[in-house]
Parts: sequence; C-alpha cells; structure tokens
Amino acid sequence: MKIIYLDNGATSWPKAPTVASTVATFISDHAVNIGRGGYFRAYETARRIDECRDKLGVFFGAPDSRNVTFSLNVTHALNTLIAGLFTHEDHVLVSGMEHNAVMRPLTHLGIPYSIMPCNKEGFLQLESIPSLVRKETKAIIMTQASNVTGSIQPIREVAKLAKQYNLLCIVDAAQLPLSSPLSLIRDSIDAIAFTGHKSLLGPQGVGGLVLSHQLAQQVNPWACGGTGSKSNLLQMPDFLPDKFEAGTQNLPGIIGLSVAMDYILENKDAIIKRENDLTELLLSYFLSESRISVVGPKEMKGRTSVISVDFPTLDNAQVADALFMDAGIETRVGLHCAPIAHKSVGTFPRGTVRFSLGYATTEKEIRATIESCKRVLENLHAS
Ligand SMILES: Cc1ncc(COP(=O)(O)O)c(C=O)c1O
Repeated sequence: MKIIYLDNGATSWPKAPTVASTVATFISDHAVNIGRGGYFRAYETARRIDECRDKLGVFFGAPDSRNVTFSLNVTHALNTLIAGLFTHEDHVLVSGMEHNAVMRPLTHLGIPYSIMPCNKEGFLQLESIPSLVRKETKAIIMTQASNVTGSIQPIREVAKLAKQYNLLCIVDAAQLPLSSPLSLIRDSIDAIAFTGHKSLLGPQGVGGLVLSHQLAQQVNPWACGGTGSKSNLLQMPDFLPDKFEAGTQNLPGIIGLSVAMDYILENKDAIIKRENDLTELLLSYFLSESRISVVGPKEMKGRTSVISVDFPTLDNAQVADALFMDAGIETRVGLHCAPIAHKSVGTFPRGTVRFSLGYATTEKEIRATIESCKRVLENLHAS
C-alpha cells in the first residue's frame, strides 16, 4: 500500500537525503569512541562530532560551540535543566501549550509552576505574565511552537519580559520553524533545548542544550559518569561540553544530524516555501469543510506545518484509521503528549487528528489527502 506520511510533528520522515548512508558508513567504517582513545580515528571522529556542534552553535546563536551539549533528545535535555536548576522552593512559569517533556519533569520533581494562559488558537497571552510573577519565580520555560496547534509563540517578547523580571528564559525548540530559528545571543535567551529528529531532519536519539555561559555555570549536572576528561576526579568536570555529556554519546546520531544540518542550510528557503504552500493548501480545504473544525491558527501567519483538526460529529480515532485504510495516510490522533495544550484550546480529553507536513511532502500527496478526507467523511457519515 502507498503511504502518505503526515506525522512529521512526531518525527521527520524521510530523513535528510544523506543521513542514512552517512550513518551506515560511519557505523561500518569509523564508529570508534571519542575522548578516550589516543589514535587517529578517535581524533577524526571527535573532529566530526565537534563539526556538528559548530553547526548547531551557529544555527542557534551560541556564545561558543562548546555551549552546545548533546543528549538523547529534547526531553532528556529539558530534564537535565529542570533537575539541575530548580528546587521545591522555586517557582517557574510555563505556557498553556506545553508538552509533557516540560510538565512531567516539573510534576515529578515537585517544582511549583503557574501556567501562562494561551488563547483558543494556542497563542500565549503575553499580558498575563506580569501578574503571575512571584518573588520566588526563577524562570519561564516554554515551547517555541506548539506540537498540537502549530502556533508559533512570541519568544522574543517573552525573553524581553523575562529579562525585565530577572527570570531565566528557557525554550523547548522541539518544533522549531525553520523560518524563524532562535538565537541565544541575539534573542537574549538563556537556554534552547533542541531535538535532532524533527525539524532538523536528523536521526532519532540525539538532541541537546544550547546554554548561555551564565546558565551553564548554574546548572548542576544530573547524569554523572565518564567523560574521557579529568578521569582522576570523582566529580563531573565543570567545563563544557563535558559537564553535561556523561557516558558515550550517540555518535552515529550526531554524525547523521551533522549532514542533516548541511542539507537544511543548503535548502532552507525551498523547504520553507514548499511546506508553507502545502500547509496552506490543506488548511484551506479544512477551513472550507463545515464537518471539520481547525484547532489552532486559521491563517498561515504565525503557524508551522502542524495542523490539528477535530471531526466533531465523528470519532477522531475512527477518522484517522479510515484515512489510513483509504489512502495510507499516516497521521497522529489523540492528545499528542500535551494534555494542557488541549485544555487551553478546548479539545481535552477528546484530542485531535494531527496532520503534520514535512520537507518531502508533495502537492500530489496533499491533493490525495483532501480527496481521501472527502471520501472518509461521506462513508463515515453514511454508516
Ligand atoms: C513541543 C515538544 N516538546 C518536546 C517533545 C519531545 O521530543 P523528544 O521526543 O524528541 O524528546 C516534542 C515531541 O513531540 C514536542 O513536540
């Protein structure tokens, strides 16, 4: 059966064109460890890992490429920050569109938080922030773009407010729009947590943190272990990136992410245009169909290529299943690991069907998706 993959919000697929072959060659020919052995291949592999760090450092406006530290994914990166920075006596602000990658570590560690409200389209209400700040508030932690509605948040304004109130500004950039990448330095952000396998088109299993010098000093390491450096010490080294890179990293994943970054940088404008045009095409169909309700921004301005919809008169899970059976359309249905986001936009506990387009989605696929939606609506309403 032909597949139409519209679940790029969960992970990008296909990966950037050279990722698979580069990772395969690395594993078969070069995959020795770094920071441990003193031989040529170990140094060469370390150089390639640092090359990826350099690319990410430039992409995210890091003060130094060593301020980019690798982890498993953005969830792991956020756990490192949250566990290493806050205690029960602190208080943080989160947006009403957060993913459980933020909400669960806060809940698990018992760190008090308040939710900055978002409107029904999933946009943060900036004016709510001042009244939520308490004397023990230490940080604003929030997503750059919602994985439920695709709404892009006004992070630069949030960062300015954070500075005004002397709060840290920590961003979950999992769903980063290529059209609007954040820069730590230019945008006065203290930390960006990223994941390699979504918008960055790399393999699963690699993500990380981009940290300001000041924050890097404040965060206590959470995972401790071998780094290949300062092996005489029983404590973690206090310098970057080693402070937050305990144990062997996902070297094949980082090598794959590195070539994915090359692809993105070379093709950024074309990727943005294609995703934009196709998202607009699908969105305009959803908006024209009275039996479908778009959850999130109704315009292209301020949104990513993630579109959530509700089929109010049907069971959303049944619709997603029917789309797959009808035309092999792979979507995601439910709460998308973001229950508070659904509470904000009024779709909890029902959830939505999420269509998320990627760099490789074609116009033919979107037109086939629209035709399939029409057939599914007719068939399910008739039964
Ligand atoms: C906004 C947001 N934050 C965090 C995550 C978690 O990403 P990962 O599984 O790569 O840690 C996701 C993934 O769906 C997400 O959309």
